[in-house]
Amino acid sequence: MSDQYDVIVIGGGPGGYNCAIRSGQLGLKVACIESRKTLGGTCLNVGCIPSKALLHSTEMLETANKDFAGMGLTGEVGFDLPKMMAAKEKTVSGLTSGIEFLFKKNKVEHINGLGTIIDANTVEVDGKKLSTKNIVIATGSEVATLPGLEIDEKKIVSSTGALELKSVPAKLLVIGGGVIGLELGSVWRRLGAEVTVVEYLDHIMPGMDGEVQKQALRIFKKQKMKFELGRKVMAVEKSGKGLKVKTEASAGGKEKDIDADVVLVCIGRRPFTANLGLENVGVATDKRGFVETRHFTTNVAGIYAVGDCTHGPMLAHKAEDEGVAVAEIIAGKAGHVNYDVIPGVVYTAPEIASVGKTEEDLKEAGIPYKKGKFAFAANSRARANHQTDGFVKILAHEETDEILGAHMIGAHVGDLIAEVALAMEFKAASEDIARTCHAHPTITEAVRQAAMDVEGWTMQS
Ligand code: FAD
Ligand code: NAI
Repeated sequence: MSDQYDVIVIGGGPGGYNCAIRSGQLGLKVACIESRKTLGGTCLNVGCIPSKALLHSTEMLETANKDFAGMGLTGEVGFDLPKMMAAKEKTVSGLTSGIEFLFKKNKVEHINGLGTIIDANTVEVDGKKLSTKNIVIATGSEVATLPGLEIDEKKIVSSTGALELKSVPAKLLVIGGGVIGLELGSVWRRLGAEVTVVEYLDHIMPGMDGEVQKQALRIFKKQKMKFELGRKVMAVEKSGKGLKVKTEASAGGKEKDIDADVVLVCIGRRPFTANLGLENVGVATDKRGFVETRHFTTNVAGIYAVGDCTHGPMLAHKAEDEGVAVAEIIAGKAGHVNYDVIPGVVYTAPEIASVGKTEEDLKEAGIPYKKGKFAFAANSRARANHQTDGFVKILAHEETDEILGAHMIGAHVGDLIAEVALAMEFKAASEDIARTCHAHPTITEAVRQAAMDVEGWTMQS
């Protein structure tokens, strides 16, 4: 059968499009089916990219109006919301069409439509049956909501609606103090909204290093973001032109109503596999709907799953790495993802970044460790840049000195984390970073000084 594909990838997000491109590079006959008009999935269309575009413009606005005077720069900067949104859209469309180009370059056939698995070798799109040796499920995730709370994307919004509000709400209530709540909460706070975050737990950013969580909370509060920790939302009711958010303590009781103009629901995302036909072939999912895999393969031979629709962190680069690994496995190579070294970044100001184990993880696992820490207040470049909030922390094994994790909060730490991730991939010791020459004056020196501190010889604080 000459028109048979080697691989059909269902979903054109970071998991799917990278799998398709790598498959094309490896000489496989590949098609990528995407139901959206544009490629790039959640990440490019309604996730990473539009959120980072708005985070960048609003951070510039806040820096100009709050920090410029201290550097001898004068004048106030205003904003034009429709133009800011148009600039964001331009970035998104440039990048989504860039993937079209990469598909052509790597001989990936792009099929626009909803893909349904008919059997282990057949996928149907718009009534047309396509024959394939392998299927990769890369259908991503969708927003999770609370029972009884209907997202209309105008007053009660998910991240998608929060990326395209037509005006700045006077009061924005954010349900969930995780990554989306802090990033998009920051965007609208900087534009003038009063932002209140209601978080079920008694801390923000679950899973992050405890010290980073505490310092981040202090900084966000200083920025005038309000927090209601240990509190859950029971209902959202219409109240005149606005909304009344009914909350109570997570443990029960202590009811409190909070007024809002817009409510952002960001309590996590769930796998998206609707209309995919998993039941036609018996692909197993867990109780929460995640496709079960073992080394990327589902329980059905020849059907793989990558990215948000399967287990692991819901991050674009994790989806990308899994997509690449699957393409390589199908091409007969050894595809691999090192789940111990997947960095995570929260793109607030300051940024928050993490890789590997937290102190809490190490204590729980009984792994003996040493810790090195260095504050940006002692870094010359951070001081010259007036960006002294935060620190770098490096954790290394007590006996072997192997780096086990790094946790940072501060300007540009989303970029600094890559150095530690690379070191960890090479199983480096903290001393390897401590003895690597870092350019002066750069904020990268904070990473070196933190590594020196693991052995107690920090020289700049
Ligand atoms: P997706 O990107 O969700 O792509 C899946 C695609 O499959 C979708 O386009 C969907 O239309 C398509 N599809 C589904 N079913 C079918 C079907 N049956 N047929 C055809 N097509 C189908 N991650 C980061 O690492 N960094 C960030 O800064 C970041 N920011 C984010 C900000 C927001 C607001 C959100 C919501 C998410 C963010 N993420 C970020 C998470 C990131 O977007 C996801 O982890 C990533 O997109 C997952 O990639 P994926 O390929 O698994 O799925
Ligand atoms: P999240 O898992 O980061 O945070 C959800 C928060 O909501 C948690 O703190 C949780 O305790 C809280 N919560 C859950 N139920 C609640 C309730 N009933 N009431 C109050 N609080 C409640 O999920 P989020 O922010 O929705 O993001 C979804 C995914 O998107 C994340 O997994 C993340 O990986 C990804 N993402 C990544 C980004 C990045 O890498 N910079 C940016 C944005 C999203």
